[in-house]
Amino acid sequence: MTIRLAPSILSADFADLGREVAAVERGGADLIHVDVMDGHFVPNITIGPPVVRAIKRVATVPLDVHLMIEEPDRYLDDFIDAGAAMVSVHVEVLPHLHRTIGAIKSRGVKAGVVLNPSTPVVAIENVAGDVDFVLVMSVNPGFGGQAFIGRSLDKIRSVRAMLDAAGNAAPVEVDGGIDLQNVAVVVAAGAEILVAGQAVFGGRQPEQAARALKDAAVSAMMSRARA
Ligand code: DX5
Ligand code: ZN
Repeated sequence: MTIRLAPSILSADFADLGREVAAVERGGADLIHVDVMDGHFVPNITIGPPVVRAIKRVATVPLDVHLMIEEPDRYLDDFIDAGAAMVSVHVEVLPHLHRTIGAIKSRGVKAGVVLNPSTPVVAIENVAGDVDFVLVMSVNPGFGGQAFIGRSLDKIRSVRAMLDAAGNAAPVEVDGGIDLQNVAVVVAAGAEILVAGQAVFGGRQPEQAARALKDAAVSAMMSRARA
């Protein structure tokens, strides 16, 4: 089990993304989580491929691109060409999920599937052997700074069990409301990739905040390994 911290730039200073990315990398960020929203699938609009391309120029860690958009198939190549190393798509918008996963992987990029809080785990059962990671939303997507939905812990355990049953060691990623108070239980439930926006960029010291969150997650992982 390897813990990776993926700060979400949604809560960063968009006028100073280069400095924000560098700060969290110094603080131990393993990935940069990029939230793409289209104003249709979620009630908010954020960024597109040109901004991903700009972040790619300055980031030294891989970009984890979370597509909260309808018809993601139409935009996969654009985001991959812009520099995404991981692309995740929501199962709620994809009738042909298996094909989409194949399309992402065929570009040499890690393919992830995302479950909204109200989407049952069984929705990914038939692709559990195919995915490179599963993203469990622990808030309803659309905005940063929302409260963690406690029931997500059970879902993390269920997804982990489903991947294990499929013989797939792919990590579970968790996104939404993660902070210093709950990061240990999230890791104990089986999450390995931790997205955090507000908890990292909400204060004035993203480097220190990233480091504190990563340290807490790694300690929780070591206690889990000992248990
Ligand atoms: C929510 C986004 C998240 C969000 C996380 O729609 O997918 O990545 O930015 O931010 P926090 O950690 O503030 O909940
Ligand atoms: Zn996200």
